[in-house]
Amino acid sequence: MNAPEKLPLFTLSAWSAAQLAHVESALSRWVACPSDAPAPAGLGDAMRYAVLDGGKRLRPLLVMAACEAVQGNGQAALRAACAVELIHAYSLVHDDMPCMDNDVLRRGKPTVHVKFGQAQALLAGDALQALAFEFLTPEDASVDAVTQARLCRMLAQAAGFQGMAGGQAIDLASVGLPLNSAELHEMHRLKTGALLQASVMMGATCGTPTPAAQNALRDYGAAVGLAFQVVDDILDVTADSATLGKTAGKDAAQDKPTFVSLMGLENSRAYAQELLGKALRRLDDSGLGHTEALRALADMLVNRHH
Ligand code: IPE
Ligand code: IPE
Ligand code: MG
Ligand code: MG
Ligand code: MG
Repeated sequence: MNAPEKLPLFTLSAWSAAQLAHVESALSRWVACPSDAPAPAGLGDAMRYAVLDGGKRLRPLLVMAACEAVQGNGQAALRAACAVELIHAYSLVHDDMPCMDNDVLRRGKPTVHVKFGQAQALLAGDALQALAFEFLTPEDASVDAVTQARLCRMLAQAAGFQGMAGGQAIDLASVGLPLNSAELHEMHRLKTGALLQASVMMGATCGTPTPAAQNALRDYGAAVGLAFQVVDDILDVTADSATLGKTAGKDAAQDKPTFVSLMGLENSRAYAQELLGKALRRLDDSGLGHTEALRALADMLVNRHH
């Protein structure tokens, strides 16, 4: 009798390193320095500074993991992964500007406006946003036209007034206001959850999941998206600036409503774990194989220390 076949153990670090090798190399090649038409007047330097050498790359990893779960088109997923990260990087550049959170430290470096000036930071954000949609619409046949259009629509919705930009507007309008639970959930769903959920659903769109699998992934994305911002709020209180690579303690200093200010530290921690459980249960009943990476990412995102 043959010995039972040994399945290779999944390790998130090895899986992530393999995925990110492709993502980092694509970003480094494509962001603002095509040899035939580099970005003018220093704009390319500001764009590359905002995107390269930093960040946990959670959104690209979620795209790649969801694509793997549905056994989708890896070329489409790579473009989607880079596009989502560009929108995220742009949102951070603008979030840090003096007219918003007025932060000087991001990803362990001076923020883009500190290094390059406010006008260049504004333009770098604008250009990164536009570049995201260029990534999603290659001229070659690597991504079919219907998938390109779907990916553009999903990313546009998650980035715009029904998503990140809308959530940021609520965030700024809420300084000093004690939001109730429903209002805080809505703010977090839009400002952070939408782009994380879109990362999952864009990865899924690179394949052809059943409606039941799509619904399960949508719920998984909503739960991890919310859990992510709950943990961001917790870390703002519990971690230090060196560990975070951004200024700790800013939320309380600026009187921002957060999950910690609404329900306290311990309840926030318990809530993040509850959301993790919910996300994993939805994967259980998704009917999908190959969900190891999605599981491990949800766990890492909730139990992270930076
Ligand atoms: C920080 O996001 C901003 C929020 C949406 C809360 P990340 O914690 O994913 O930041 P990076 O990409 O790792 O720097
Ligand atoms: C930012 O939320 C969310 C974005 C859309 C960029 P925060 O303002 O809490 O993010 P950090 O803490 O500065 O990274
Ligand atoms: Mg902010
Ligand atoms: Mg901020
Ligand atoms: Mg924060």
